[in-house]
Amino acid sequence: MIEQIFILKKDSMYIKSIKKFPSTLKLVVLAMVATCVLYICSVNFEKPARIRANSKLLELRVINQSCQLSNVEEWEVPFLHYPQPKTYNREECACNPVRFFTILTMQRSGSGWFETLLNSHMNVSSNGEIFGVVKRRENVSSILKTMDVVFNLDWFSGASKNECSAAVGYKWMLNQGLMEHHKEIVEYFERRKVSTIFLFRRNLLRRMVSVLANSYDKNAKPLNGTHKSHVHSTLEAGILAKYRPWINTTLLMTELKQTEDTAAKAIEYFNNTRHIVLYYEDLIKNSTKLKDVQEFLRLPYRDMHSRQVKIHTAPLWKQIENWDEVQKTLRGTAYQNFLFSD
Ligand SMILES: *[C@@H]1O[C@H](CO)[C@@H](O)[C@H](O)[C@H]1NC(C)=O
Ligand SMILES: *[C@@H]1O[C@H](CO)[C@@H](O)[C@H](O)[C@H]1NC(C)=O
Ligand SMILES: *[C@@H]1O[C@H](CO)[C@@H](O)[C@H](O)[C@H]1NC(C)=O
Ligand SMILES: *[C@@H]1O[C@H](CO)[C@@H](O)[C@H](O)[C@H]1NC(C)=O
Ligand SMILES: *[C@@H]1O[C@H](CO)[C@@H](O)[C@H](O)[C@H]1NC(C)=O
Ligand SMILES: *[C@@H]1O[C@H](CO)[C@@H](O)[C@H](O)[C@H]1NC(C)=O
Ligand SMILES: *[C@@H]1O[C@H](CO)[C@@H](O)[C@H](O)[C@H]1NC(C)=O
Repeated sequence: MIEQIFILKKDSMYIKSIKKFPSTLKLVVLAMVATCVLYICSVNFEKPARIRANSKLLELRVINQSCQLSNVEEWEVPFLHYPQPKTYNREECACNPVRFFTILTMQRSGSGWFETLLNSHMNVSSNGEIFGVVKRRENVSSILKTMDVVFNLDWFSGASKNECSAAVGYKWMLNQGLMEHHKEIVEYFERRKVSTIFLFRRNLLRRMVSVLANSYDKNAKPLNGTHKSHVHSTLEAGILAKYRPWINTTLLMTELKQTEDTAAKAIEYFNNTRHIVLYYEDLIKNSTKLKDVQEFLRLPYRDMHSRQVKIHTAPLWKQIENWDEVQKTLRGTAYQNFLFSD
């Protein structure tokens, strides 16, 4: 704009002075004026170009609006995404909206099983424990960058279904950079409309047994020398469940409290994101809870299946080496119900 005003001023100066000059000079001046006029015209021509770009944007928006027609409530609209992956074309599903989610959980809380359930749905891609790799959570910028790739549907794992995903996400353990960087992550979730699925265990003593047994298995490898965190047969489950961990009761109360507090803190941090809180025990016992999950992700309803088999199914007194001591420690505390519940 400034440039244009400046040129116009110069222009009127030339026109005023033309009369005073001899004819040869007049020609030169005219030529200069003509150049100026041409220049102004070219400056003005840039605008239509910009308008053309804008109308292209408008067109895209119109396409998106026509994409969003079916069965969508007003509040949902910001949660609908139309990723354009760098590496392939979403083709016939380009108009299917995609919801973003993360499963915030802890080790040995049923998230492996839960993810296989979700992934048995043809329209869900839950990409596993992507922040198990330290490099991806080294700092906040690598965390955000990694999430960008996942939510752009450019992440490839055994679970990614790409073109026709209606919900894409992954699971994230609370101790994988999530609590340290919660501020920026919450900000990202709010900005990009990522829904949060909390998955915890109610019985933290059972969880502890599972943690200790899994960590024992890493070295002992009773299944033909391979370490398995999850199994697909009752035979394998039975072999793994034979190991009965010994629990240090000096630290038991403190550790249970710490686990409980960490979960509560996470819910508090992410309270303002759209979220649902699930407990493994409820999912196992109550099939309606799985419907709640599909409703939460606004998925077309499907039966979901997992091949995973629960490892520790016996009562806890059969699964803890120093049961008497553990029982004595927890009796009369807020955690005594853990002793006999599933
Ligand atoms: C929908 O809108 C987003 C951003 O507004 C845009 O990046 C995307 O290309 C659009 N999708 C389609 C299918 O037009
Ligand atoms: C963050 O971590 C990534 C991956 O390790 C690294 O390449 C990058 O330099 C780091 N950025 C900052 C700001 O520290
Ligand atoms: C689910 O996937 C199927 C098969 O790829 C596809 O035809 C369908 O449109 C998808 N549904 C949604 C809601 O994305
Ligand atoms: C593991 O060993 C058992 C016998 O102890 C055998 O029946 C089974 O086939 C083996 N499995 C694999 C995967 O090697
Ligand atoms: C149990 O934990 C306490 C506190 O850390 C420790 O001092 C003690 O050595 C542990 N007991 C055993 C048998 O490891
Ligand atoms: C979450 O926010 C709601 C309303 O803002 C509040 O009532 C509730 O106590 C909060 N919950 C936690 C765990 O912070
Ligand atoms: C099962 O879950 C549903 C939905 O969350 C709930 O309304 C119902 O009370 C639960 N049933 C039992 C027996 O807990």
